[in-house]
Amino acid sequence: MSDASLSLKEFFTHDHRRCDERWAEVEAAAQAGEREVEKEKWREFQSQMLRHLRMEEEVMFPAFEQASGMTGGGPTFVMRSEHEQMRGLIAQMSAAADGGDYDELVDLGDTLLMLIQQHNQKEEQMLYPMAEQTLTADWSKIREKLIEY
Ligand SMILES: [Fe+2]
Ligand SMILES: [Fe+2]
Repeated sequence: MSDASLSLKEFFTHDHRRCDERWAEVEAAAQAGEREVEKEKWREFQSQMLRHLRMEEEVMFPAFEQASGMTGGGPTFVMRSEHEQMRGLIAQMSAAADGGDYDELVDLGDTLLMLIQQHNQKEEQMLYPMAEQTLTADWSKIREKLIEY
């Protein structure tokens, strides 16, 4: 796996970019009026996003919380609550896509993307560097778990 040489910060930052790219494909299909492609790209984006959130919540955040002792309201607490906001929007978008309301899908997507951009900036500039430092010794084990997702 090519991700094997990446640091923690690089691994998750690259995954942010992959999610961004999937969303750009949804928008491109929407602009071209290709509804079936849009729906298919939406499903890819949705699964990539939810996978990313799970990799953080189930593997990296707990490892960081344990190693740093920041369990009761530290940076991961804020990140988790932002993930819940994202999941709420993703669920609404999913309902819009299922109902064939593609304008609504893209409108909600604009809101989601704003949320994601602010969230990712905090992670990439603050949380990932901190976690990378705290988890240096554990990174290869953590990476093995992440690759299974
Ligand atoms: Fe996150
Ligand atoms: Fe993230």
